[in-house]
Amino acid sequence: MKKKDKLTFRCQSCGGLTPKWMGRCPDCGAWDTLTEERVVPGILKKKKSSFLPEPVLIDSVAVKETDRIKTGVAEFDRVLGGGIVDGSLILIGGDPGIGKSTLMLQVLSKLSGSGKKCLYVSGEESVRQISMRGKRLDSHGASLFVVSETDLDSILAMVGQSGYDALVIDSIQTIFHPDVSSTPGSVTQIREAAMQFMKLAKSTGIPVFLVGHVTKIGAIAGPRIMEHMVDTVLYFEGDKTHVFRILRAVKNRFGPTNEIGVFEMNENGLSQVPNPSAVFLSERSAIAPGSVVTSCMEGTRPILVEIQGLVSSSGLGTPRRTVLGLDNNRVALIVAVMEKRLGMNLSGLDIFMNVTGGVKIVEPAVDLAIAAALASSFLDKPVDKKTILIGEIGLTGEIRAVGHVQSRIKEAAKMGFAKCLVPCSTIKQLSRVKGMAIESISFLKSAMEVLF
Ligand code: TYD
Ligand code: MG
Repeated sequence: MKKKDKLTFRCQSCGGLTPKWMGRCPDCGAWDTLTEERVVPGILKKKKSSFLPEPVLIDSVAVKETDRIKTGVAEFDRVLGGGIVDGSLILIGGDPGIGKSTLMLQVLSKLSGSGKKCLYVSGEESVRQISMRGKRLDSHGASLFVVSETDLDSILAMVGQSGYDALVIDSIQTIFHPDVSSTPGSVTQIREAAMQFMKLAKSTGIPVFLVGHVTKIGAIAGPRIMEHMVDTVLYFEGDKTHVFRILRAVKNRFGPTNEIGVFEMNENGLSQVPNPSAVFLSERSAIAPGSVVTSCMEGTRPILVEIQGLVSSSGLGTPRRTVLGLDNNRVALIVAVMEKRLGMNLSGLDIFMNVTGGVKIVEPAVDLAIAAALASSFLDKPVDKKTILIGEIGLTGEIRAVGHVQSRIKEAAKMGFAKCLVPCSTIKQLSRVKGMAIESISFLKSAMEVLF
């Protein structure tokens, strides 16, 4: 190391810089995340461009809907907002082993089937391993190219003039720039690589997919800053012990966010699940206390899910509260409301809650279903099998309005449900749905009277 090279320390969580090593990052407060980094003066300095872009009138720019490339994987296209936009930079995040590589290989294979020239760059697997996986997935295509490479410069040179229509980098954490001193996967490397791929995408119009691993806490490992740079952030999530995988758009410059695509992982790779409600309800047992169905919105799509509650006597001083797939605090709030407004004595009991199929729900619209599942288990009385519940619960035990009630009810009717409890303030906006009896509810207490 030369004397004039400065030593700095960079946080691997937020990207903040400090001149000294510290146990805790002063910017984000994370412990033990600072790593040494050598700053070589001038090495990453960009040449000043002599080219000045000409501002144009917004109305004079011609935009065609055909500028989106359909991949042919409908669930994937939906999440992107109807297909891939030319020159977009898309980040696919997810836990290791969730199926990101599988998904991207299948998407590229499908894309190359329609005559697009695609390149899959893997920094994790050799060409033989990729094609072995490809054979298993029945992924091939006359114009799908694969390469194993981690050097950023080589990849950029490779893509430069070869006329590819789509590029996948698997994964961004393995890519390194030889002139950047820090190790692959560090904040500086990832940022530099993401920057270069952004330039590539914007200047050539090639859509670039970056695969990124996600850390335990749910952030894309490395800099948060990458999420700001890319056009679209997709998370591929799911419970590894379940076969379902959900692709979720959390940021999208070219389409709606919170749109999801549902996939199923089996021995031949991922297959699409066009009707998730049917799948999530398929294992529902005949009629049992503690099981309730509700309709939650995932983007623009209503999905029916089964919520299960179990209330049992506790052997512990502090009773257990185990909640999977729902917000812990919401469940605690609902339990408190049930105690106070319904007089159900739940405080000394163990409470377990689960959403079947490994789905995660954050919407308050499922409150009423949570309360019903708990009450059903507490009273040991089942809820009618053909009834669904929609509504948010307020602290005084009132049932509050939620959005998209009409489409939620339509989905339920499609799945053969016959009765629906909805907040009374939404009833005026609803039109009739064939085969569905709609009952309006204003208080939790009246909902319980209707159900049990
Ligand atoms: P992979 O795409 O390698 O995950 P990631 O790139 O996100 O790390 O997927 C690996 C998992 O997927 C592995 O646990 C096995 C499973 N899998 C199947 O069940 N069926 C298949 O056909 C394939 C290719 C993978
Ligand atoms: Mg992988």
